[in-house]
Amino acid sequence: MPNYRAPQIHSSEITPEEVWQSRRYWMKAAGASVLTGAAAGWPSIGGAATLPSLEATVSKRFFTMEPRTPEKDAASYNNFYEFGLDKGDPVKHAHRLQTSPWKLRIEGEVVSPKTLDIDDIRKLAPLEERTLRMRCVEGWSMVIPWIGYSMSELLKQVQPTGNAKYVEFITDVQPKNMPGLSSRAIQWPYNEGLRLDEAMHPLTTLVLGMYGKILPNQNGAPVRLMVPWKYGFKSAKSIVTIRLTEKPPVSSWMKALPSEYGFYSNVNPEVSHPRWSQATERRIGEDGVFAPKRKTLMFNGYGNEVASLYTGMDLRKNY
Ligand code: MTE
Repeated sequence: MPNYRAPQIHSSEITPEEVWQSRRYWMKAAGASVLTGAAAGWPSIGGAATLPSLEATVSKRFFTMEPRTPEKDAASYNNFYEFGLDKGDPVKHAHRLQTSPWKLRIEGEVVSPKTLDIDDIRKLAPLEERTLRMRCVEGWSMVIPWIGYSMSELLKQVQPTGNAKYVEFITDVQPKNMPGLSSRAIQWPYNEGLRLDEAMHPLTTLVLGMYGKILPNQNGAPVRLMVPWKYGFKSAKSIVTIRLTEKPPVSSWMKALPSEYGFYSNVNPEVSHPRWSQATERRIGEDGVFAPKRKTLMFNGYGNEVASLYTGMDLRKNY
């Protein structure tokens, strides 16, 4: 990312992690369908504490025992360049994002293109709470309880044609509401791409909420992508178009810095970014700024699920 800096969260700002130890959390983990309210104990961060609840069933498959990142940190330490280059900019400015009405168009190499609104998207498949690791290319990571379902549910609805090999995700541009658009660091709209089989993998998640509520604007409301085995920048926020294509899409980061950001962007501790190592990471909100870093895991720890997608590929060339 252009303005890479080490995380600047001070230990005094870090909320003790009480949520994952609570009785309600373990009831949820037992598979109960829940309606979680606002987390208590921290002031509203860009309105995140007061957002409407979103009902979801806790996924047993996509779950980790690792402590969740405190909601306060996940909703205030963000990359959303449409709202500025600093980690604190999105929470300050994203209240200006217009999220309603919202239309998501799914088009391109499909038999039945569709335009859906957020209610259609919420009803399309049962919502699951999936607690997933997210590793940013800058060297920090979080564990976030996202709410959504597999992207494949949506893609199946439009019936990809035999020519569909890739999926492009294009995000919204609201010139009056996004102060960051004045930056020429990247080309707008922010876009990303996956191979069709990556997009159809059950771990690739269409996200509508987090921490029991609808998504805060700064985290990509009202609908975003989460691809947990890839660096965080692949997970496009505030998506308006999903386009199935025959040729690989060229993402905003590939256009901006082609020698640094390739199409695949799989988390890989053995392949350094040209300007820094990817071998370790700092878990935001958990370790504290002076604690030793964690070792980064191949495919962000999801190798058992996804390594077979890359059999026979040279992951140094396909970075
Ligand atoms: N999506 C859009 N539209 N604009 C962005 O700047 N930043 C990406 C990704 N999706 C970005 C985006 C990057 S660099 C990261 S690390 C993640 O969003 C951050 O998601 P989070 O703020 O929810 O942790």
